[in-house]
Amino acid sequence: MAHPHSTLITRIGELVTNDSVSLACSGPLASSSSPGASGGPGFAAITAWTGPAARAPAADSIIDADGRAVLPGFVDSHAHLVFAGERSAEFAARMAGLPYQAGGILTTVAATRAATDVALRANLRRLAAEMLRQGTTTFECKSGYGLTVADEKRGLMLAAEVTPEVTFLGAHVVPPEFAGDVTGYVDLVCGPMLDACAPHARWVDVFCEDGAFGAEEAAAVLAAGRAAGLVPRVHANQLGPGPGVRVAAEAGAASADHCTFLSDADIDVLTSTPVVATLLPGAEFGTRQLFPDARRLLDTGATVALATDCNPGSSFTSSMPFCVALAVRDMRMTTQEAVWAATAGGAAALRRLDVGRLGAGARADLILLDAPSHAYLAYRPGVPQIAAVWQAGRLAAGSPLSSP
Ligand code: NIG
Ligand code: FE
Repeated sequence: MAHPHSTLITRIGELVTNDSVSLACSGPLASSSSPGASGGPGFAAITAWTGPAARAPAADSIIDADGRAVLPGFVDSHAHLVFAGERSAEFAARMAGLPYQAGGILTTVAATRAATDVALRANLRRLAAEMLRQGTTTFECKSGYGLTVADEKRGLMLAAEVTPEVTFLGAHVVPPEFAGDVTGYVDLVCGPMLDACAPHARWVDVFCEDGAFGAEEAAAVLAAGRAAGLVPRVHANQLGPGPGVRVAAEAGAASADHCTFLSDADIDVLTSTPVVATLLPGAEFGTRQLFPDARRLLDTGATVALATDCNPGSSFTSSMPFCVALAVRDMRMTTQEAVWAATAGGAAALRRLDVGRLGAGARADLILLDAPSHAYLAYRPGVPQIAAVWQAGRLAAGSPLSSP
């Protein structure tokens, strides 16, 4: 295998690989630029080796981690980044006692429809850059604030400029022009809208909730999406108990997201099927709801992912470190479980084998923390601790030099 350039990170205080039985081990890590798996003209850097310093291979450049921790880049498997406007007044009103309502989405739909491509692209790129600086090297991005054929297609095409993990969420809420006619809108989503959108997406999502779409409607959207070659994922059981998790499993979804209100039957589904339970603690923070019971899921053996749900309504954070801190403090996840869920868990929710871990063959997406261990992400909440981020072996944000 050709190695045009290789980088060795050495003197790592704690190396989180997610690749072995023990979550964390110490030692250096090497990444190499080598031909991408596709064999195409592009080069993708992969992690070529991890292990003890004494056995480190020769490398073109050496980075001294100076006792700091290295972990895989975060995989944020749930975000809504194509939108215009903001809803800080709605947030402030909630904090003053008003409840969260799914209808707030329509405020953003109106602003998004009115926005130019240039404005939407600028906002999207600003958020994507914000994510990268905070260690997110893979993220998913949904449409869902357009809700017309043209506006949904536009949202997906913009999202595809910044990530391959693009999700068609035409079934976010029923738009005003279909008020009182859910069936008419579901027909549009499953017909002309899907036809226009499927070529630009990998995933299909539906908000299955009172005030959005019921079980039958959600199942219809997911089945149509599947028939068009998309893989389902579901906004499930966010605002109250409901059929979302069951619908997700029946549709063969990769992930059921939110999972805030789960029955025993829902827990059984999540432990007996490959559906990943994606928890979005930013949404509970931003809507002042009770956090989902992560311990119940983990203790019964479900696969748990953590994601930001970054959107202007319920969870306007792009920060995976913040979500890790919430998961540890308020969802009783251990620091190891939370970091696993924010990396390998997200990769599982996106059915990706090349990210969320560091080991031979994984993409060299990694974070150098300004701290000696992964636990500091929760131990020092709100403090910027992402020293440097590599994406496919290239330094993409920050600096590996130790701060003074
Ligand atoms: O994941 N649940 C539906 N969608 C978003 C909220 C979007 C909004 O309020 O604008 C969510 O929380
Ligand atoms: Fe969401």
